[in-house]
Amino acid sequence: MLIDIIAGARPNFMKVAPIIHRIKKRQQEGGTLQYRLVHTGQHYDKKMSGSFFEQLNIPEPDVNLESGSGTQAEQTAKIMVRYEALLLEKPCDLTLVVGDVTSTMACSIAAKKLNIKVAHVEAGIRSFDLTMPEEINRMVTDSITDFFFTTSETANRNLYKAGASKEQVHFVGNTMIDTLRANESRLQKPDVWDQLGLQEKKYLVMTMHRPANVDEEAKLKNFMDTIIVNSGDFPIVFPVHPRTAKVFEKLGLNSEKLKLVEPLGYLEFNYLVKKALAVVTDSGGITEETTVMGVPCMTLRDNTERPETCEIGTNELIGTDVNAIPSAMQKLLSGNWKKGGIPELWDGKTAERIVSILEKL
Ligand code: UD1
Repeated sequence: MLIDIIAGARPNFMKVAPIIHRIKKRQQEGGTLQYRLVHTGQHYDKKMSGSFFEQLNIPEPDVNLESGSGTQAEQTAKIMVRYEALLLEKPCDLTLVVGDVTSTMACSIAAKKLNIKVAHVEAGIRSFDLTMPEEINRMVTDSITDFFFTTSETANRNLYKAGASKEQVHFVGNTMIDTLRANESRLQKPDVWDQLGLQEKKYLVMTMHRPANVDEEAKLKNFMDTIIVNSGDFPIVFPVHPRTAKVFEKLGLNSEKLKLVEPLGYLEFNYLVKKALAVVTDSGGITEETTVMGVPCMTLRDNTERPETCEIGTNELIGTDVNAIPSAMQKLLSGNWKKGGIPELWDGKTAERIVSILEKL
């Protein structure tokens, strides 16, 4: 069976890596699954893409659709047209998509319309916030998925409610955590550590890139000013996503405490997170990693598609009203943040479970 594995944007790369490694291992043991790695080109910079392939030892993509940037519709259309052309020329037996980015949705539609079965890794999670492009991607993808691989019981329930059958839903755990577990001993001190004179547990890590938080200049400035004022003496290390960088350029933020740095590689970013006092973010994936590393995490969003990071892990949603920031920051800095546990099956063996199910299809 030939499986297309789709990777398009930064948060996809750590999710496909362990699946590819497992398939290759099984091939050495005589397994018959074949795969073709398709990079859609949604993220194309070395810092957003290439460095993840190198660090996570992901083989060169077999195909790069080079779709690049654009509006949501442009990007979706480009990926669909190019992936469809590939499938028409060289079909596969199953298309495996991960996560919730535009590439995930676009490739699942193109495949399904050619009657190719679709498997979705990280299926079923929902924020129920349709202002997020990712939520639309999740809903559309899951509505045409044949095999669901899930990270939580909440995801399973969401899928059953939407009409999925027990045979289709496989609760396997979290491939992003497979990658974290596999690389925990390889994390690398980033150059900025010495350049900024960072010390363990004496700095914050911050990331923000959601359109709802960063696209409006005044709103982003208000967030940043409030966080800076309430961060005590701790430096805030902020690896800046290209979308956020465009807005920051216009804001002219200047604070000694705010350390803006380029997007970091996987090994460097997680080194910083592991040794941080706390993380402030609007990302979903990072809340899973902080949960597993036991690092306090404050999320600047009104909802999450990953409720287990709050119910079990170290994450807390504080919303998008800046008035909630001062008291939350105080709790974060004083060490009174809640302690967390690790969600079921986030044990580093998810890819093994996925590949063994794929082998039986
Ligand atoms: C995408 C995902 C989001 C994920 C994020 C991680 C969707 C809908 N969103 O958002 O879920 O959390 O990736 O990064 O798929 N750009 C570059 N270099 C690149 C890639 C993009 O400069 O390599 C620029 C683009 O030109 C664009 C901006 O970054 O202006 C946003 O890129 P885009 O792919 O549209 O979505 P993200 O915001 O990165």
